[in-house]
Amino acid sequence: MVKIGVVGAGNVGATTAQLIVQRELAREVILLDVAGGIAKGKGLDLAESAPVDRFDTRIVGTDNPEALEACDLVVITAGIARKPGMSRDDLLATNADIVRSVSGHTRDFAPDAIVIVVTNPLDAMVYVAFEATGFPPRRVVGMAGILDSSRFRYFIAEEVGVSVEDVTAFVLGGHGDSMVPLPRYSSIGGIPLFEFLDEASIAKLVQRTRDGGAEIVGHLEEGSAYYAPASAVAEMAAAISLDKKRILPCAAWLTGQYGIHDLFMGVPVKLGAGGVEGIIEIALTPEEVDALKTSAEAVRASIQKLSG
Ligand SMILES: NC(=O)c1ccc[n+]([C@@H]2O[C@H](COP(=O)([O-])OP(=O)(O)OC[C@H]3O[C@@H](n4cnc5c(N)ncnc54)[C@H](O)[C@@H]3O)[C@@H](O)[C@H]2O)c1
Repeated sequence: MVKIGVVGAGNVGATTAQLIVQRELAREVILLDVAGGIAKGKGLDLAESAPVDRFDTRIVGTDNPEALEACDLVVITAGIARKPGMSRDDLLATNADIVRSVSGHTRDFAPDAIVIVVTNPLDAMVYVAFEATGFPPRRVVGMAGILDSSRFRYFIAEEVGVSVEDVTAFVLGGHGDSMVPLPRYSSIGGIPLFEFLDEASIAKLVQRTRDGGAEIVGHLEEGSAYYAPASAVAEMAAAISLDKKRILPCAAWLTGQYGIHDLFMGVPVKLGAGGVEGIIEIALTPEEVDALKTSAEAVRASIQKLSG
């Protein structure tokens, strides 16, 4: 991949840009923000780390959207973040305007790009980017499931006292209070999670995962989580840039999969150079299907608030 744009040079955007340049996932990275000084300052600061971190990826900070020209991948992190007591939906109208505007720049200057949306409320913002760019659905994808499952994996590893490397876990559905962690598809070293933890302990970890973002917002008092979110975005950028064809939980456009139509929701996808190259449907219990439908209704309600 030649050129990656990161829109929004705040906590998530700048940390994402750092991971992308350190891993040399592109030849050039554009860090774009309406607050030009922040983008230019952080861009230069990152460029000056290149000799020590040994990367040749060029990084430029700017407030000029034209710099997105010919980007192969654009990551949208522009928007406002949650404050204590705010839900992700409280960000809806403000961030929809911002995402609409930067999606327009992406359409105008990088018409062939794949877009990863990070701005919250995630599932609604992916929809806004999809509409505003007019890009085919495989080129618009949202980041949430990797972060949510990473949190779940961390809590499991901590509880059981094992390496995070051996814990796999799966989270479906919308990003938010209605996310659907799937303990049945979670394992430690290939051994089902239920061999290590009883249902009550798993339920506690599931709830902590649902509240994972709010727990951090509560500590920080200003701003929201960014290290784990940026790591999750970088994993998606690597899958696309290196055409890895990873199977990862991402917000993708559903056309009947899991019984859900015309909505972006967190599901397992195959992510490669073509963007969302496939959606994997796994067998769910009736309870899991109900939880997913409830999650879909919450996402649809957010989108309806925007158009209403
Ligand atoms: N999907 C997820 O799992 C996930 C995880 C963490 C954060 N987020 C979301 O990501 C977003 C960014 O979070 P953050 O912590 O980096 O916030 P932040 O406030 O640190 O940074 C946001 C940046 O966006 C910029 N911006 C605003 N309008 C813009 C525009 N029109 N064009 C370009 N830049 C613009 C701001 O100047 C600011 O620098 C928030 O909406 C947050 O809720 C999502």
